[in-house]
Amino acid sequence: MCGIVGYVGEKKAQPILLSCLKKLEYRGYDSCGIAVDNGGIVVYKDALRVEAMAKSLPRLTGKIGIGHTRWATHGGPSKINAHPHVDCSGNIAVVHNGVITNYSELRRELAKEGHKFTSETDTEVIPHLIERYYQGNLEAAVEKALTKVAGSYAIAVLRSGEAKMVVAKKDSPLVIGIGDGENYVASDVSAFLDYTDRAVYIEDGQIGVITKDCVKIADDGNKVAVKEYKILWNAEEAQKSGYEHFMLKEIHEQPKVIRNTLAEYMRITDESNDVKLAGNGPILMLACGTSYHAALVGKYVFEDLLSVPVRVEIASEFNQQRYILGKTLAFAVTQSGETADTLKAMKRVKGEGGRVVAVTNVVGSTSTRIANQTTYTRAGPEISVAATKTFTAQLMVFYWLAISQIKEDMRRRAGLLSELRSLPSKVQQVLDDETTIKEHAKYLSKFENVFFIGRGVNYPVALEGALKLKEVSYIHAEGYAAGEIKHGPFALLGSETPVIAVVSRDNTYESMLTSIKEIKARKSPVIAVSESEDHDVEDLADLLITVPHVDPILSPIINTVSLQLLAYYTALEKGCPIDFPRNLAKSVTVE
Ligand code: AGP
Repeated sequence: MCGIVGYVGEKKAQPILLSCLKKLEYRGYDSCGIAVDNGGIVVYKDALRVEAMAKSLPRLTGKIGIGHTRWATHGGPSKINAHPHVDCSGNIAVVHNGVITNYSELRRELAKEGHKFTSETDTEVIPHLIERYYQGNLEAAVEKALTKVAGSYAIAVLRSGEAKMVVAKKDSPLVIGIGDGENYVASDVSAFLDYTDRAVYIEDGQIGVITKDCVKIADDGNKVAVKEYKILWNAEEAQKSGYEHFMLKEIHEQPKVIRNTLAEYMRITDESNDVKLAGNGPILMLACGTSYHAALVGKYVFEDLLSVPVRVEIASEFNQQRYILGKTLAFAVTQSGETADTLKAMKRVKGEGGRVVAVTNVVGSTSTRIANQTTYTRAGPEISVAATKTFTAQLMVFYWLAISQIKEDMRRRAGLLSELRSLPSKVQQVLDDETTIKEHAKYLSKFENVFFIGRGVNYPVALEGALKLKEVSYIHAEGYAAGEIKHGPFALLGSETPVIAVVSRDNTYESMLTSIKEIKARKSPVIAVSESEDHDVEDLADLLITVPHVDPILSPIINTVSLQLLAYYTALEKGCPIDFPRNLAKSVTVE
């Protein structure tokens, strides 16, 4: 969703705002803009990416400013709809992330009072409301204005001549960066990591006033203690480091991510960090997109290794259900920790007496503040819109939780732990074998429709493979449970529709071979992902992606890495903008 930034300090704001905005482009990138107090508010914005807009800007000397990178919700991408938006006087500028649900009503009301609107956005009502209530105190006017607003928002507000930013949030993320004689604000910490690793999170309903020397936060007029977090990521981790795309870099980081996550969890013995899985009744998992696929793998893992029943729900669908849950233990799986649907689902579980464990990659993210308990993935910052290494890290958390809680079959436990330790080198083998995958990607890039199939613990891998391919290469791809494909999708099979079959050497093996034979009989080319030296699969498939042997329950990691590479190289072959696919955003902070 949109990204907002702000700076106040001793330096020129413009280059800092632009550099912060570039880091947030993964949140939305159809247009962007900045407002700087340059002896009066000046606004520059356009339907351009940050780099292109930066080229057309004059050099501003103002030392306070705000900026925005947009993912359009109300009104298409255009110069007029881009943020910042201003009031009638042009003295108040606002950047906003979220959705104001009652904006039409407010707009009509304000128009009757003489306020003139120029955009189609919901945001534009905010500077006009602040103008309506301004009587010499900006924070008081912002607070009053927000009492009129329904929906979600993270905002940063600037007024000409006042050396401060006023910020506020409700159901959209916002974090303040603390510097020396300068302060920052942003939708997430990666924006200002180049400048500071000190962060302060602001909660829903609070108002923050940020000057160059001071951050004050108030809740309902009462001063709130400012709690600082140290950000564990460094600026280098958020660079491409010589890779052509973040996605490729992040795929290649997976051996390290597995090692880091294991190291982190193996040293945890402390009860407070241990999530007990057995004895809670059925476990609920809530997530969206790739994190939902990780949760589905988690279901197979918990059920297979611990016989703990698990129900996995797409968070947005769970939010439509009306039955009472009771004392459920729920995992909320969200790499960003800011996905609106997942946060809403977490609140529902808590509201109905349940307990929520957040599985997230972002320290201090909203999910951690809603959850009763948090367990962190250690993937480092993930910049590419397509989630890769965070999926693997989520799986590692589930594997660790399940394997470390095996109580009876200690040989199985020891065997799996040793297999977990061997995963980094096996993933590395897949990464070292990119050449074959690149060749297959060239072939795949010629098609318009592709199916991915898998069974058991590799069914979610098929779903994830399809999601990855469609989002970065724009090829229509569907993931299916292999046994289900004959119940309808067979009508679409033929020489123009390849099928990618994820084969694992477990109890699903024979039925996967049968599915492949049935598909071949309908003339669809088959690309199989399978262990090396699998002659049965070799004989059947048209093309092969071979992966090293691991215990089948752990195979989703190895198989997914190969499908991530396939998606990446297919998109590369087609010349797609891999890190910033059209219409998408990394962190979906609206419902
Ligand atoms: C997939 O590549 C996407 N980035 C998307 O499906 C993502 O997994 C989903 O939006 C959920 O995000 P979260 O993990 O941050 O909650």
